[in-house]
Amino acid sequence: MGIFISVEGIEGCGKTTQIKLLSSYFEKRKLPCRVTREPGGTRVGEEIRRIFLHSDNREIIPLTELLLVTASRVQHVNEIIIPALDRNRIVVCDRFFDATVAYQGYAGGIPLSLIYRCHELFLNSIKPDLTILFNCSVEAGLERSRNRNKKMGIEKQEGRFEEKTLKFHEKVRRGYMDIAEKEQGRFRIIDAEKSIESIHDELCLIITEKLKEKGYAV
Ligand code: TMP
Repeated sequence: MGIFISVEGIEGCGKTTQIKLLSSYFEKRKLPCRVTREPGGTRVGEEIRRIFLHSDNREIIPLTELLLVTASRVQHVNEIIIPALDRNRIVVCDRFFDATVAYQGYAGGIPLSLIYRCHELFLNSIKPDLTILFNCSVEAGLERSRNRNKKMGIEKQEGRFEEKTLKFHEKVRRGYMDIAEKEQGRFRIIDAEKSIESIHDELCLIITEKLKEKGYAV
């Protein structure tokens, strides 16, 4: 059995940059890694992502969001994550179930019990072995994220959540901190306002420790 690591945080927390660096770190050490993301990660999941994130789809309500991300996750877990873990891969997932709890639950207002029930029913409550939470201020994150989308010309395609209020994103951030507090054994929080290099070093330390615990030669 491999190891399943998820990476979470608010918009613009820098997780995607760090995942890229982490992937090269694994490559250099010849550690078998599979990087993936949610929503998305499969062909069908990426189609769902397109609908989910497009800013023209403003009318999507939180319950529809829950069903869309769950559909994407069911496909992803069965098509990619479980087979990769069965092949002893280190699976690094850019967002997973905690994002649903934070965004659709804490910020979107769906009862958390319904979200957990849905995860139990369709996904057997699968959880990562380790979850990294990048913590930064909502202002800093949103500015970074909106600038990046603009630079890449994807404000419309990927911008639906960036258009939400500061208050919404503050709820997401507090939600993540609350989940991390409840599951301290699984979560590690990293201060995402430090330099890219020092965050990378801290991330590698945390992951190396986890890999050793799981019996990987690192
Ligand atoms: P990102 O991949 O660039 O972080 O964007 C994904 C967006 O989708 C982000 O705004 C968070 C949102 N999201 C949810 O609302 N619920 C979920 O379950 C997941 C995985 C993502």
